[in-house]
Amino acid sequence: MNNIKLNGDVYCPSEEIKKFAIVKNWDDLNEFVSKDYQKFWENEAKELHWFNSWDKVLDDSNKPFFKWFTGAQCNIAYNCLDVHTQTSRRNKLALMWEGEKGEFRSLSYFALHRETCKFANVLKSLGVKKGDRVTIYMGRIPELAIAMLACARIGAIHSVVYGGFTVEALHERLEDSHSKVLIVSDGAYQRGKIVPLKSIVDEALQRAASVESVLVVRRTGEPINMESGRDMWYHELMALPIANNQNSIEIMDSEDPLFILYTSGTTGKPKAILHTHGGYMVGTYTTLKYVFDIHEEDRYWCAADPGWITGHSYIVYGPLLNGTTSFMYEGAPTYPYPNRWWQMIEKYGINILYTAPTAIRGLMRFGEAWPNRHDLSSLRLLGSVGEPINPEAWKWYHRVIGKEKCPIMDTWWQTETGMFMITPMPCVPLKPGSGTKPFPGIQMDILDENGKTVKPNEEGKLVIKTPWPAMIRTIYNNPDRYVTQYWSKFPGVYFTGDSAKKDEDGYYWIIGRVDDVIKVSGYRLGTAEVESALVSHSAVAEAAAIGLPHDIKGNAIHTFVILRAGVNKNEKLIEELRQHVAHELGPIAKPESITFVDSLPKTRSGKIMRRVLKARALGEDPKDLSTLEE
Ligand code: WT7
Repeated sequence: MNNIKLNGDVYCPSEEIKKFAIVKNWDDLNEFVSKDYQKFWENEAKELHWFNSWDKVLDDSNKPFFKWFTGAQCNIAYNCLDVHTQTSRRNKLALMWEGEKGEFRSLSYFALHRETCKFANVLKSLGVKKGDRVTIYMGRIPELAIAMLACARIGAIHSVVYGGFTVEALHERLEDSHSKVLIVSDGAYQRGKIVPLKSIVDEALQRAASVESVLVVRRTGEPINMESGRDMWYHELMALPIANNQNSIEIMDSEDPLFILYTSGTTGKPKAILHTHGGYMVGTYTTLKYVFDIHEEDRYWCAADPGWITGHSYIVYGPLLNGTTSFMYEGAPTYPYPNRWWQMIEKYGINILYTAPTAIRGLMRFGEAWPNRHDLSSLRLLGSVGEPINPEAWKWYHRVIGKEKCPIMDTWWQTETGMFMITPMPCVPLKPGSGTKPFPGIQMDILDENGKTVKPNEEGKLVIKTPWPAMIRTIYNNPDRYVTQYWSKFPGVYFTGDSAKKDEDGYYWIIGRVDDVIKVSGYRLGTAEVESALVSHSAVAEAAAIGLPHDIKGNAIHTFVILRAGVNKNEKLIEELRQHVAHELGPIAKPESITFVDSLPKTRSGKIMRRVLKARALGEDPKDLSTLEE
């Protein structure tokens, strides 16, 4: 990619960026890795600590249940913390944190290790054992990372539920995972208001039976209900003698589960994507190092939420594995003013900023004056993730934030892939809106309905043809669904659910989801979840949800509702239904519009044809209507 003449709007990295970068020539690396990708991942794995080495790098004897580094023993938390406390990184900052109200906290590797060990011992004393599930439901505070790492340390499987979800979404995830312990904060600050996380938990727990203990981190200090025998304060537990610094590490097999993370799929309930210790560790470590070009002195900020895969891989695990200093900010980008992010970049000297197109578009609309008031010269690299970035937002980000000297790493990946899959590196020439090419060693393709590779610039289905270390291992408790969901559309290859094009230079361009998943502000929501939240209201008989383009959110949810007989259609009911969805699922799922209808387009077998609704809303031709009922 470095030497050939590329077509279209191309941005080449400066000599300075290339000279500094770990990978100076992408083609050389790619050629080397493509010869033997297992050897490449093996070399990377050797940079990490293992209690025992592997017999095999990749075990593909039971496809599509691939295994990596079989026979090896490790613990990802040991690599995130213990290894650094044994070097001069002991006193280096692992985490810098700013609260929405302006408070600052920092934890060195030593301190983060200590807090994690203490909390791991608390969990153990509560009877949490290897393989048990622990749900974590918090705002963006350091305790969220501590809780995740403490689980990993003792071999418990964490299930982080995004703090923007509410009662029903939380309940469903607690039930499905059979979590014994729930870790929550009393509330979370968002735009100067408090999200009452603990009271959402109280309501969800009236519907969920498996939870025995609720551990509550004090963040806001607002009065909350504490149920005796069930609810305990984190700070009280952490003050007990049992919460000591003593070794709490569980030696894990490479393929032992690390976490589950729920994500929306084509139909029905969200599915629990399972990741494991060994492969996930190697995948996130390596990709972050090369793509965000991690240097010892960097201050790195991934502004995503830890409750999302981006936060798991590139706020918590990837940065700590690389021994880097991360910054975490609790609140909203525009609070109290739209310069908040730029102010913090200046204040903390951030070198790398990784965020989502929706955030860029949201900040862009306030104009250049806000960022221009701040010294952003510490920035070296920028990143984007979650949905396609429109070239206009890309150019604004590049010019106004990156001052035309910071390459933008547009990283395509998924909860399921665990790590970057299509991504540039700093040395790679960029085209705004394209994530460039697959990470070395990963073969991807774009197929037509018959499984044949499409021609350049033709749209098709995006698939992955080679296994990678951080890949999904299964859907927790549902291996059949894992096979049908990902490996059945095209035999032998992983289907991503996305449509894409490849241009004449081999650059990939993501078009969007082809299934019933809507990306709202980069968050993945299933039409089925929104529909079932609507139907759970007594006024609603049937509902259909679709995504339509939105300037800032990328997509917004629009719904069509058939009311029960005798219910009056009025504006008040529309507002009530929108609030109902927000209460059940979360504010991100609140429909942009609700239209009352008398019928919905369906197939003869009774499935709602959302694409017909969508085409109609966009004034487009719905194309093939042969399966429509009438
Ligand atoms: C879906 C996965 C991976 C972290 C965030 C999302 C879309 C993700 C990009 C990108 C275009 C992107 C895809 C993908 N997506 N990154 N850089 N360009 N689209 O994880 O919630 O599992 O969603 O997000 O549609 O399938 P996720």
